[in-house]
Amino acid sequence: MTDSTAVEPGAPDTWWRTAAIYQVFVRSFADGDGDGNGDLPGLRSRLPYLRDLGVDALWITPFYPSPMVDSGFDVSEYCDVNPMFGRLADLDAVTEEAHRLGLRVIVDLVPNHTSDQHPWFVGALGAEPGSADRDRYHFRPGSGVDGELPPNDWESVFGGPAWTRTAGQDGTPGEWYLHLFAPQQPDLNWENPQVRADFDAIIRFWLDRGVDGLRIADAHGMAKDTSYADLDRKAQSGLLGSEPVPYFDQDDVHGILRGWRTVLDSYPTPRIAIGEAVTPTEERLARYVRPDELHQTMNFRYLSTPWSAAELRAAVGDTLAANDAVGGVSSWMLSSPDTQRVVTRLGDGEAGLLRARSAALLTLALPGSVYIYQGEELGLPEVLDLPEELLRDPVWERSGHTERGRDGARIPLPWHGDRAPFGFNTVGEDNGWLPTPESWRSLSVEQQEARSDSTLALYRAALRLRREHKALVDGDLSWDQAEEGVLVLRRSPNFLCIVNTTDEAVPIDPPRTLLLASGPLPVTPGDGTVHLPGNTAGWWLTD
Ligand code: GLC
Repeated sequence: MTDSTAVEPGAPDTWWRTAAIYQVFVRSFADGDGDGNGDLPGLRSRLPYLRDLGVDALWITPFYPSPMVDSGFDVSEYCDVNPMFGRLADLDAVTEEAHRLGLRVIVDLVPNHTSDQHPWFVGALGAEPGSADRDRYHFRPGSGVDGELPPNDWESVFGGPAWTRTAGQDGTPGEWYLHLFAPQQPDLNWENPQVRADFDAIIRFWLDRGVDGLRIADAHGMAKDTSYADLDRKAQSGLLGSEPVPYFDQDDVHGILRGWRTVLDSYPTPRIAIGEAVTPTEERLARYVRPDELHQTMNFRYLSTPWSAAELRAAVGDTLAANDAVGGVSSWMLSSPDTQRVVTRLGDGEAGLLRARSAALLTLALPGSVYIYQGEELGLPEVLDLPEELLRDPVWERSGHTERGRDGARIPLPWHGDRAPFGFNTVGEDNGWLPTPESWRSLSVEQQEARSDSTLALYRAALRLRREHKALVDGDLSWDQAEEGVLVLRRSPNFLCIVNTTDEAVPIDPPRTLLLASGPLPVTPGDGTVHLPGNTAGWWLTD
């Protein structure tokens, strides 16, 4: 156990309001025991890298015992560590070492569903319909003449129906259970008081061990419209984030979140909760960060905004307006383990990288907190050509092999050396997990540390400046009028960021002190005009 007050005596209680939080996809970060899978000892050994990068905290994806059907988001025991990732003592060691280095630790909480191997679900399957054990989940009789059809038309986010029928030991078909994700991930019934009490205890278990907070997976889940009415819509996963659905973002979820806030606030040192919530509007999302709920949410609207000055400005403006209205903190992210890597999303190849580097400077200039997904600071692209037999994401099977899923964003990090997997582990090429491409040699940490123009160097410099300059910590944001495709952003009193989202260079008249640029800024000989090349961004001090 560790004492989280060890982080930085006297640090403000509101560190999270301006934090840079690094998202660790633990299986692909660093392998400490050489079995080919990233793990907690591997993570611990690389914590100095995160300190040197200049982030304030790390969020670790689930490392709990799990059949790993959905990369550990199918938890079969909430208060322990998957042997693949280490032991409980390894998590304590990560927390302790992180605190010693001035980093906070956030762990993932997966409350919407368990694994089908969790003893609660195994018990529920063996129990009678209507029993207390079954009431922990959503068991329903089927529709149709003999209950042979699902109870309603809700669909799984991963594709196919959100219901699977149970069978008795003799094979007799029985009730159906709800799973908004894979069939191996049954949804918990949050109207059941025992479920609530159990999660309060799980949260206390981790907070008592000294972690600084929780990242709530599917914070928009849990509460369902238990009239279980049909949605009468097909392709429901396409509605998420734009239209209301009866199983996400229900008003009752806020009571659950308020209960957790009470638990968090009962600790003498600040403990925070970050919600992964997807809602139809910014206003609905801001409800999650009301003063007695979560501390912040992950901003998927910003993450999915195309490389367009007008759309980026609108996404920033709408986010700030909605959060300011409830006194909540805004957050920004360009990538996550669930979405295509930003370099590829913004166009791939050279243009994609240039845009991603510029997007980083825009993002790190915004007020609030930022999330950086491992490898983003290396400019890693999505791996689009993984052989089909290696795909692990349940989306691949559930979509009937029409969507490849998220594996291409979850490739092991390249650390050093000349051959894949570049120091990720010592096993060699066939490590039993996703392979790191040979083409990533020049993208390794070692290679990028040696170059002052690398993406890693850019992130390190930007994160340092973001901490050092008061305007970037808490200065007000304003926009200047600018030509089409260009963003001119100020943070008071003396910070200026210009982003050129077009492919053509634009002449600019910048202040004298350049802090940082995402690429070279050529000057025209003779008249001294500075050009901001296409897909380039810069930071300046205005006096
Ligand atoms: C969260 C995770 C995602 C996972 C899903 C369902 O959204 O971020 O990776 O697939 O929960 O478990």
